[in-house]
Amino acid sequence: MTRFVEFQGGDVDAYLAEQENKDLLRFITCGSVDDGKSTLIGRLLYESKMLFEDQLSALEADSKKLGTQGGNLDFALLVDGLAAEREQGITIDVAYRAFATSKRKFIVADTPGHEQYTRNMATGASTAELAIILIDARKGVLTQTRRHTFIATLLGIKNLVVCINKMDLVNYSRDTFAKIEEDYRAFAKELGAQNINCIPASALVGDNIIDRSSNMPWYQGPTLMGHLETVPVGDDQSAKPFRMPVQWVNRPNQNFRGFAGTVASGTLKPGDAIKVLPSGKTSKVARIVSYDGDLSEASTDQAITITLDDEVDVSRGDVLCAAQAPVEVSDQFEVEVLWMGDEAMLPGRRYIIKAGTKTLPGTLDKLKHKVNVNTLEKMAAETLALNEIGICNLELDSPLAFAPYKENRALGSFVIIDRFTNNTVGLGLINFALRRAANIHWQAMDVNKSSRAKLIKQKPTVLWFTGLSGAGKSTIANLVEKKLHAQGHLTYLLDGDNVRHGLNRDLGFTDQDRVENIRRVAEVAKLMTDVGLITLVSFISPFRSERLMAREAVAKDEFVEIHIDTSLKEAEKRDVKGLYAKARRGELKNFTGISSPYEAPENAELRIDTSVMSAEESATEIVKFLERKGRLAAS
Ligand code: ADX
Repeated sequence: MTRFVEFQGGDVDAYLAEQENKDLLRFITCGSVDDGKSTLIGRLLYESKMLFEDQLSALEADSKKLGTQGGNLDFALLVDGLAAEREQGITIDVAYRAFATSKRKFIVADTPGHEQYTRNMATGASTAELAIILIDARKGVLTQTRRHTFIATLLGIKNLVVCINKMDLVNYSRDTFAKIEEDYRAFAKELGAQNINCIPASALVGDNIIDRSSNMPWYQGPTLMGHLETVPVGDDQSAKPFRMPVQWVNRPNQNFRGFAGTVASGTLKPGDAIKVLPSGKTSKVARIVSYDGDLSEASTDQAITITLDDEVDVSRGDVLCAAQAPVEVSDQFEVEVLWMGDEAMLPGRRYIIKAGTKTLPGTLDKLKHKVNVNTLEKMAAETLALNEIGICNLELDSPLAFAPYKENRALGSFVIIDRFTNNTVGLGLINFALRRAANIHWQAMDVNKSSRAKLIKQKPTVLWFTGLSGAGKSTIANLVEKKLHAQGHLTYLLDGDNVRHGLNRDLGFTDQDRVENIRRVAEVAKLMTDVGLITLVSFISPFRSERLMAREAVAKDEFVEIHIDTSLKEAEKRDVKGLYAKARRGELKNFTGISSPYEAPENAELRIDTSVMSAEESATEIVKFLERKGRLAAS
């Protein structure tokens, strides 16, 4: 949605050019409707005359009808009206509105100010250069003020404007304003917030929003709009070395191969030496192509296509950098995570990491701590729930070219995506790369999986039994192992209850412990596969994410997932260990099927229904399946 100052007639091209050349300020407003946020935004939009006629007349009609402001225009109605409009079909609740004055263009990200909406605020803040923090003059600095300031500084917003609103309700008291300003500056300093401006205002009456207020002659600073129009913007990225993540490789024919993207920092000229990362190859810029023809220079934020002197390998997600000042490359980082998923973040689970134009799998490690966004206290935590913020390490499957978030937002941030739902579940900011991985190398071994397998004449295979407690996994796995053993196969059975007495004795049954339980056993199964064994794994393994992780740890044909499918009713009826009864009595927490989920496999190689088959028949069926698939033939 892009709307600019009213076009008054005349030369259209000149008008458009004038708009084009104005600089742009992206900002975010933080505060709740009660603080007067809607009124403030409504007034800014109204005064800049960007409202459509029909919106204006609707506003007049509504104001008269609802009459909250005694016949005057109620700007809050306007914004709330737009809010209703945008509720259709937008998942993350952030509305971007564009407007302009004669001096500048603006894009304001408006996010609901409700307590739980860290997610929305973070989304709006990640591209903003300035944040307006609204404070109700009657209430002063509140918990939410701290939270907003924390998130704004965390996301690298350098300019904070504290709009101390509703001054009309405190008799335009200079002392009240001074006290709030003092309180605010004291804690903002602790957060390392940089440029702070406090403005006493009344969005409703219009004091110090656009026009200077005669009610507060003691205030000498700028009005809110005056400040927005003049605050220096366009951060320091243009003075930094050249960086551009490659969005796509444009190859319309054999004669043209261009790398398209948006310049993240610096400038570029034909002839400049560049380095491609992570590969580290170097080349020279041949041409800079744009819609308006070849350019003699490209600068920050410009969308361009680059062609190179030679045929170096460049793909989507690579970063092109100034050859003398390349970005760093790593596969392990310390990161700040803002969790946006309804399901908690689980350390050890694999997620899709989308960093700029690059998408790759990765794992978030154990949390170092989370931050209470209200008190800013650091607290120990196992997981992050919706809207929580924490610090942990990120491990990627392959190297990523990056810059710390503090240096470059585009190259230092990523979104976290769930592998099954494809939902965005978090936002990550890179603090720095970890050096530990750089000093550990893979040792090449002469004796390998295939030579070991040949020696014992078998095809290493993982038989992964999953199902509810009491489904019969262990009984059936035991019978299968006996049969394979009798046929002369070298096998090993990893059983949940047994492994939990040793390797995994430190783990319980919370979601995060189960993720770790399966991560470890998947690693062990992988090692056993390397030995050449037929490994039987009998764990509830309730989450499909971790079963997928186990599957991906070995080669495609080496993994056979067997769903021992017994209804909860049946498993509970059997209740061999008496655990279901205990769980029903509330004496056993997080019990699978009762107070902890079981995600049934959708694409298991085998599904064994124990309501129609005995354990013996099931085992026979599994062995037959392995024979059919050639897994029992000599390797
Ligand atoms: S898993 O979910 O992490 O894969 P695992 O297979 O290792 O579980 O362990 C399951 C066994 O632990 C069950 O067979 C049962 O005997 C026992 N157990 C004890 N508490 C629980 C619980 N809360 N939920 C499920 N199983 C439990």
